[in-house]
Amino acid sequence: MKKVSVSFTLNGDAVTAEVPVTWTLLKTLREHFELTGAKEGCGVGECGACTVIVDGEAVNSCLYPIFEIEGKSVTTIEGLANEDGTLNPIQQAFLENNGVQCGFCTSGMIMSAKGLLDHNPEPTEDEIRSSIAGNFCRCTGYVQIVEAIDMAAKTLK
Ligand code: FES
Ligand code: FES
Repeated sequence: MKKVSVSFTLNGDAVTAEVPVTWTLLKTLREHFELTGAKEGCGVGECGACTVIVDGEAVNSCLYPIFEIEGKSVTTIEGLANEDGTLNPIQQAFLENNGVQCGFCTSGMIMSAKGLLDHNPEPTEDEIRSSIAGNFCRCTGYVQIVEAIDMAAKTLK
């Protein structure tokens, strides 16, 4: 299969990957870089489990063609914790508010929350709910997740 070489920034490091031209960002993250935090749920842009940040915006990496990543900056859940291993305040707030059950949706939820809070540090509950409207959770009923994002906003402030 025809391959493409792409160079971009991944969790703060300059990286290059040569992968099949048909691969998505999600497939490249999981299979080339072995970063398996972003999950493949639906694979068609409907569940949000694959959410990562590209150039400051939360995107569905399952829909993102790898050849479009050239020169961009990608942050995944693996890039959120601090260098000393302590959790990012959004991760910590999910733990403290029981926003994690099976965990399948969690990295996508947290990256969508990061996309929101990076642009809007004081979101209303409606804005929090809208920011995760594309992220499905089968377990929590969403209340704890909304509370977690609200706590994270207050901590980050
Ligand atoms: S796996 Fe990407 S939106 Fe569902
Ligand atoms: S915690 Fe299980 S899908 Fe959200």
